[in-house]
Amino acid sequence: MGLELTGRARYLPLFMCGIVAYIGKKEAQPLLLDGLRRLEYRGYDSSGLAILNGSLHVSKKVGRISNLEECLSGAPLSGTIGISHTRWATHGEPNDTNAHPHLDNRKKLALVHNGVVENYQALKRKLVAAGHTFESETDTEILAHLVGSMYDSLPASTPHRLETALKLALKQVQGTYGVAVVHADEPDVLVGARRGSPLVLGIGQDEHFLASDVSAIVAHTQKVVYLKDFDLITLTGNSFTIKSITDKPSEFQISEVDYRTEDAELGSFPHFMLKEIFEQPTSIQNAVRGRLNAEEASAVLGGLNMSPQELREVERIVITACGTALHAGIVGEHIIESLAHIPVEIDFASEFRYRNCPMDRRTLVIVVSQSGETADTLGALREARRRGYRVLGICNNVGSTIARETDGGVYMHAGPEIGVAATKSFTSQVTIFALLGLLLGRMRFLSFTQGSEFIKGLEALPDQITKLLKQADKIRAIADKYKSVKSMLYFGRNVQYGVAMEGALKMKEISYIHAEGYPAAELKHGVIAMIDHHTPSIFIVPNDSLRNKNISTMQEVKARKGPIIAIATEGDEDVAAIADDTIFVPAAHECLLPILAVVPLQLFSYYTAVLLNRDVDKPRNLAKSVTVE
Ligand code: M6R
Repeated sequence: MGLELTGRARYLPLFMCGIVAYIGKKEAQPLLLDGLRRLEYRGYDSSGLAILNGSLHVSKKVGRISNLEECLSGAPLSGTIGISHTRWATHGEPNDTNAHPHLDNRKKLALVHNGVVENYQALKRKLVAAGHTFESETDTEILAHLVGSMYDSLPASTPHRLETALKLALKQVQGTYGVAVVHADEPDVLVGARRGSPLVLGIGQDEHFLASDVSAIVAHTQKVVYLKDFDLITLTGNSFTIKSITDKPSEFQISEVDYRTEDAELGSFPHFMLKEIFEQPTSIQNAVRGRLNAEEASAVLGGLNMSPQELREVERIVITACGTALHAGIVGEHIIESLAHIPVEIDFASEFRYRNCPMDRRTLVIVVSQSGETADTLGALREARRRGYRVLGICNNVGSTIARETDGGVYMHAGPEIGVAATKSFTSQVTIFALLGLLLGRMRFLSFTQGSEFIKGLEALPDQITKLLKQADKIRAIADKYKSVKSMLYFGRNVQYGVAMEGALKMKEISYIHAEGYPAAELKHGVIAMIDHHTPSIFIVPNDSLRNKNISTMQEVKARKGPIIAIATEGDEDVAAIADDTIFVPAAHECLLPILAVVPLQLFSYYTAVLLNRDVDKPRNLAKSVTVE
């Protein structure tokens, strides 16, 4: 976190998709396809590749990567240099023609692109006037033509001609890009560049890779360079140079990736989502490991890069994030306020950057992001830093843009999360908020005894979740009972409100059943009109300070014949007597209960989606990393 603060650009909207490129001595096609499969979570409406072997050979297919593989299985493309892409459609519907790579006017150059060329219409007009014709509806094809025409306009003797052509073209582009380019007249060179869309170089033995994230290449090399905005890279099999599009000198750092490919494989699980739900005992252990100080009954978070004095001086915290990470932030708000008595405000990252949130120099901003690449969160981070505030990050993806641009933070160490529906990242984020609450609390009002008790609670979590997961079959049966409903309501109060929001998001994003989360007492202010015997209410009602009030709200639902599924503390027979179905969770500290209560909700949405035959790991219209504003 906060390792590099260079390359900070004005925030621009970014787009999803995944790039993999290879240059070396091996056959490129299998390496590219394997990389694309690992990046498929970034976008999955079409894919394609181009291999250079004397001339360009291109194959593109709408739909999943398996379609492209099938298409290539009869006629594989041979060659040791190639580029490939998996797409999440922005400009132009998903079809074979709009899939990447795109070619230039002379069909000699191929280019793959993540991002958006904002001035594509103006560039297109110029190119059309110069006689170019286009096949697709994409902005990327215009970029390919632009680089191609730059290349053609340069004398053949120009040193680094393809690199120069790319640089000259990108100087005309407004917008964002991660690009990889090959040209039939430069059979030993692959060039790339980034602005606002991640790109990582993989350094192998007589081979190089370029990819949108490390998961695509770690099977082949662990030595990587995370490119920065405006980096321009030229690769051959055994050399690479990194320059800047801005003509300023560019510095880079070679890192070793700590990533095991088996972590990104399904193993015996049918879906990544289920695998990741079951990984939570381990991911929570990893979030806590080495971060507890029993002697001081506190937490140790060295990556915050803040002295004890600076931590003591924090008077206000603003947490900002999107989706599941925002829900973890809602839980975090309650944890920090409750343990440390510091006022916390939570805001959608997409709203934060456009509103004039008053802050003073004792305000600390915390951004939360599993991927570390979410455009809205990155925009909020940049806006907060532009205003001069210290920004901490809670990220999973090491080396991600958000992790690099924050002043400090805490890594989740949850391992790769591949399922589009976030699961283990939520519980890791909440665990880190618990550690932060403990640390800040022990500097203020939390006693040694309270701190020690809290530590015991944190240490108990992995075993408690392991026990909870044993209820999977029971939860599947409950999912079967309710799978045909049109709508579900989730209720939780205080620290459980974020869990209600998260439970509802999980349900809608993978099952497509309408679901909403509310603070339970809001029921009577309008939501109650939705209650009927076809609309189940899911109550998160552990044995906490608001249990009795929650029970009253449950009674209001029951009185209107609404079915109830309750998440209750083990042994709470009063709750079980009111609910139609009850899932018990172990007793825990109020601030740690969300980490337990969310697990049955994750399983409930998972099994509902499976029973409805949904594509659990790749739900419609979504992508794992939302790099679009
Ligand atoms: O990578 P991030 O944590 O920044 O992602 C934020 C959201 O896009 C993400 O949590 C999204 O809501 C998930 N699909 C939820 O399951």
